Amino acid sequence: MDRERIVHEMGLGPIWKLRTPATEVMPDAAMETHAAIVESPEANPAAAELPVPSFVSNADAIPVSAMAWDELAAAASACRRCRLCEQRKQAVLGVGDTGADWLFVGEGPGAEEDECGEPFVGQAGKLLDNMLAAIGLKRGRDVYIANAVKCRPPENRTPAADEIAACRPFLERQIELLQPKLIAALGRPAAQTLLQTEVKIGAARGKLHDYQGIPLIVSYHPAYLLRTLLDKAKAWEDLCFMRQTMETRKVD
Ligand code: URA
Repeated sequence: MDRERIVHEMGLGPIWKLRTPATEVMPDAAMETHAAIVESPEANPAAAELPVPSFVSNADAIPVSAMAWDELAAAASACRRCRLCEQRKQAVLGVGDTGADWLFVGEGPGAEEDECGEPFVGQAGKLLDNMLAAIGLKRGRDVYIANAVKCRPPENRTPAADEIAACRPFLERQIELLQPKLIAALGRPAAQTLLQTEVKIGAARGKLHDYQGIPLIVSYHPAYLLRTLLDKAKAWEDLCFMRQTMETRKVD
């Protein structure tokens, strides 16, 4: 299949239809998935203004790091580790094949995901499904999909650093249980959560990163791609790089 057709099948066509001249685009500034990337309350007044409730510990009988899948799901549903529990309808742990080789990690549930309890079911999810299909993958079959935070940030704001940190044990345990052969970090919050460092997508993509011995590839978040057609071809390159990396791993 040629690249133009695949990009079309990803729902991203037509190719190279720039909305602004390339010289006016500031790629790394535009890479954020929702609003500003949050490193501190100062950088995210929306998060800083939220009242910090006194969270009730759910006093897990066993630590998250030792939980099985069903315990993890129950603990996420009962979780009150951060303010995101206050407005969620439900926690959205993840979806897919728990024996999957592929793990895709996004940012956090939006309104539709909060409603139905499954990650990436809205517009961005449809695009993610098309992206998966473009490299021969299908949600639920050899793919697991999760997010950096399990509860919807109000107004779909970017999760704050403390919310990501509070939720991180859940993602860590999911990865430990899955033992995927490849992790795809979609967007800056996912990449920063997993790599535990400042990430600029433009600089981080195209490289093989490492998450505790598991190859990790950074790419754009589907919601960003919906807004920024300019980068659709780069997302295709990233998918090819993922596919190629996985094929190499299978030979190893
Ligand atoms: N965006 C995300 O990052 N995750 C979802 O589940 C939905 C939208």
